[in-house]
Amino acid sequence: MSFQRLLWSPLLSLVCFVLMVPVKTQRGSSQEYRVCNLPFRCGNLIVGYLFWGGDRPSACGYPDLQLYWENDMPTMKMNDLSYLVLNVDEKAHILRIAREDYFDGICPRRFGNTTLSPVFNYTNEYEIRTVLYACQLSASLSGHFTCSFPGAAKKDGYIEEGANGSGACAISVIVPFPKSLVLQGKENKSVLKQALQDGFEIKWNISYAECEKCIESQGNCGYDYRSRETICYCRHGIFNSAAACDSSQSNQGSKESPGLGVSSNDHNKSVLNKPRKIALGNMLIRQLGLLFH
Ligand SMILES: *[C@@H]1O[C@H](CO)[C@@H](O)[C@H](O)[C@H]1NC(C)=O
Ligand SMILES: *[C@@H]1O[C@H](CO)[C@@H](O)[C@H](O)[C@H]1NC(C)=O
Ligand SMILES: *[C@@H]1O[C@H](CO)[C@@H](O)[C@H](O)[C@H]1NC(C)=O
Ligand SMILES: *[C@@H]1O[C@H](CO)[C@@H](O)[C@H](O)[C@H]1NC(C)=O
Ligand SMILES: *[C@@H]1O[C@H](CO)[C@@H](O)[C@H](O)[C@H]1NC(C)=O
Ligand SMILES: *[C@@H]1O[C@H](CO)[C@@H](O)[C@H](O)[C@H]1NC(C)=O
Repeated sequence: MSFQRLLWSPLLSLVCFVLMVPVKTQRGSSQEYRVCNLPFRCGNLIVGYLFWGGDRPSACGYPDLQLYWENDMPTMKMNDLSYLVLNVDEKAHILRIAREDYFDGICPRRFGNTTLSPVFNYTNEYEIRTVLYACQLSASLSGHFTCSFPGAAKKDGYIEEGANGSGACAISVIVPFPKSLVLQGKENKSVLKQALQDGFEIKWNISYAECEKCIESQGNCGYDYRSRETICYCRHGIFNSAAACDSSQSNQGSKESPGLGVSSNDHNKSVLNKPRKIALGNMLIRQLGLLFH
């Protein structure tokens, strides 16, 4: 009882607050500022915000845009399928990716439809097709291929328009396919195989405007899981998407000490300076958000 009363005594709370604030907020904000400055590197690919992964923690990018470094290739995952990331055009907001399961050929070991995360759309050069497996075909169908499955008598497969179910075949897999190769891909299985290996382009629909403002103010962009928006990590605190870093904070000692008579030594210890309070509030809210997510 007396311990609890002691714990909740206002004086002790104040002491705890004063002791904790500078340490926690300084670590929290400057750490994210620092790590979100690091790019994701893998082979020839070097990207920053909106992406995260590798040295970049999740606070540095959008949830759907996590990159991995696997077998010397940058990859990403969507709905249980793994994709090789062949190119990232950050200006045009376009990713070129290819299904990893089709990298070695047209007969994958496991089947899954291509399903994009909600932030993506296909670019105009691609359309949805269905690859069908284990069909009973008349031998004359041009462009058909064969895949042998353990225990399956039917081995033939082919590609058709649209997103369809398996119909007369056992398995159907929905894939994006280049419009320019639709006819050749239907007739010629090596064209089909190559097109699946070469992958497809998807466009992300996320505004970059807030991040530009942040970078101009010497901040580093990240993602706020609570508000689901871009957030700006500044050297001296975290700002939401509507704000940019306060440039006066980068040389705060010289700006404030003459008028207020605070030496830079005192200033470092000052608890109640504004950006730190904002940072603490944001951090607590974000951590609570993650806890209850
Ligand atoms: C994708 O395109 C459809 C219509 O073509 C549109 O309704 C949807 O908002 C787009 N999604 C994104 C993330 O851009
Ligand atoms: C597949 O679906 C498309 C529409 O998405 C349709 O036009 C086409 O006829 C269907 N093909 C078969 C064989 O059912
Ligand atoms: C792909 O989607 C189609 C239509 O939604 C479905 O019939 C088919 O079973 C799916 N294929 C796989 C491998 O999940
Ligand atoms: C199929 O396409 C490949 C590559 O474009 C080509 O070399 C081959 O001659 C084509 N085969 C047929 C039967 O058209
Ligand atoms: C982007 O997504 C928004 C909804 O989030 C939608 O209204 C808009 O049309 C999309 N823009 C494009 C180019 O797809
Ligand atoms: C106060 O901060 C400045 C710059 O942020 C630093 O150069 C200086 O060493 C710090 N002083 C103390 C006592 O920590």
